[in-house]
This record gives sequence, C-alpha cells and structure tokens, in this order.
Amino acid sequence: MPLPKAELHLHIEGTLEPELAFELAARNGVRLPYGDTDELRKAYQFEDLQSFLNLYYELMAVLRTEQDVADLANAYLARAAAQGVRHAEIFFDPQAHTKRGVELGTVVEGLWRALGSSEAEHGVSTRLIMCFLRDDSAESAMETLRAAEPYLDRITGVGLDSAEVGHPPVKFREVYEAAAALGLRRVAHAGEEGPPAYITEALDVLGVERVDHGLRCMEDPALVERLVRERVPLTLCPLSNVRLRTVDVLADHPLPAMLDAGLMCTVNSDDPAYFGGYVGDNFDAVRSALGLSEDRLRELARNSFVASFLEDDEERRER
Ligand code: ADE
Ligand code: ZN
Repeated sequence: MPLPKAELHLHIEGTLEPELAFELAARNGVRLPYGDTDELRKAYQFEDLQSFLNLYYELMAVLRTEQDVADLANAYLARAAAQGVRHAEIFFDPQAHTKRGVELGTVVEGLWRALGSSEAEHGVSTRLIMCFLRDDSAESAMETLRAAEPYLDRITGVGLDSAEVGHPPVKFREVYEAAAALGLRRVAHAGEEGPPAYITEALDVLGVERVDHGLRCMEDPALVERLVRERVPLTLCPLSNVRLRTVDVLADHPLPAMLDAGLMCTVNSDDPAYFGGYVGDNFDAVRSALGLSEDRLRELARNSFVASFLEDDEERRER
C-alpha cells in the first residue's frame, strides 16, 4: 500500500503522456512534428527550464475541447490514486490556452468534468489553482483574473509559473492584491532557477502561503531560518530538478539537508509525463537515492496534508 499523500505541485498540462498526445492529435486533426511516441519521448532531453517549457507549450496544441481536458485530468487522477494520492491541488495555465484560441471556460469546464467526480471515481479530493505565466505581462495576468471571476466557485487559488529568471514576483503585486481581495489563496513558483531574493519577494510582496520549489533558499541561511520559523511549506519536485538540471544527480538533492534544517518540505511531481514519474515515483526515487528513512517519508506525506488548502476536519479525514 503506497503512503497516503497529497500532491500540491502538479501542472495538469504536464501530465500529457505521449500516447494521449497522439490520440488527441488524431481526434482533433492536429499534426505533431514527431513521427510516433518513441520519437516524441526522445525529445524529452532538457537543458534547463526553458527548453522544457518550449515542448510543454508546443504539445498543448492537441488540447482543443472540454472532453480533451477532461480526458487529460481523468488520466492523471487515476494514476495519482494508484500511487496513494488522496488529495490533489492542481495547477493549470489559462493563458497558455487562451493565447491559442481555447477559451478559459472550455478549460475550466473540462477540468470540472473530471474533478467534479474525482472523489467518487478515484477517491481523490481536489482543488484548482490558476497560474499566471510570469513571462507574459502583468496586464495579461490581470485580464486572466478578471476573466476567471465567473468560475471562482471552482478555483481555490492563484499561482505563478513559467520562465522565472528576469520575471520577479514584484511584477505581479497588483494581480496578487486583486486575487487576495477576491478571497483566493496564493502560491508562487520561486527559487527554482531564480535567486533566493525571489522567494523573499513572493512572501513579502505577493503574500504567498506556500512556495513552489523554493530550492534555492538553501543559498541564504537567514531565509532558511525565516521559512522554518514561519513554517512556510515548500513544494519540492526532485525528479523535475534533475531533469531540468537545477540539481546534477538525485543523490545531490538538498532534500535531506532541508529536512534537517527544519523546513516544511513536501514531495511532488511537477510535470510527471515529462520528468519520468508521478508523485509515488518521486517518493521511491528519494527513498533510494537519498536513503530517507521511513520516518522521514511519513513526515513528507504528513506535511503534504498539513500544507494543503484542506480545512482541518477534511485534512484529518484524508490522512
Ligand atoms: N510550468 C510547468 N512546469 C513548470 C516548472 N517546473 N517551473 C515553472 N513553470 C512551469
Ligand atoms: Zn511547477
């Protein structure tokens, strides 16, 4: 029996497996510049975050209809459930769809077809977090927030993702203020490729409750002390860090040092179709490469529920 856990850092578009990509391409008459799934898989060699993002955005072309999005989300939920996930807080990237002519409503309704029945079908409770693309403008993010207002009964929070360096959190100050005024929870990617100062800024300027990745906090002892003191959860993604070369090999991952420092770490999959594994695979990988004890693994699983946006009573039930 896999450890019961919550997944808090998962881009639904990053769960698009090559087989489903080709199936949806055929369904929608979209031509992919790859002969077959093997050829596509060979393209999964990344130099850095940007080289991954290029492929991630390119393959989204196959997602056209509500049913496509529902099929994608259902496939993720089934895989996650099989790896012990009881609760998933799922990111999606509205602007990556609207800029290619797929409406926000199509994406949200499609996600809801799968998420609305997820507890009954998969035993997985869910929340939805809408991310802004930080390499797009703050105006575009604000327009996206306004366009999402009719769907706010389905959206728990906002996040910030895509190319990090050169796009500091402060760029989105007003958008996050507006999101807070709408009662939305706030998270942001920070300290994946970007400097520790982006983590501080995400906390102080955007008011985030969790930091996605946050890996580079380890370069700033005062920041580590603060994150420990304030019990700020970090949603780490070990296999992603290796594939995107922020860490050379898994055996060098700072997770053990982060836990020893008292940081509230969680383990997640980020974009599992691209990075070689779902959340249970990430747990297995850190167990074997880093020699984490069963107690440490249980701590990581427990942290995932504590750091979630579940209410206390829901959290206890899931654990
Ligand atoms: N979008 C999808 N995956 C991402 C990641 N790991 N970092 C930033 N943006 C992303
Ligand atoms: Zn991410």
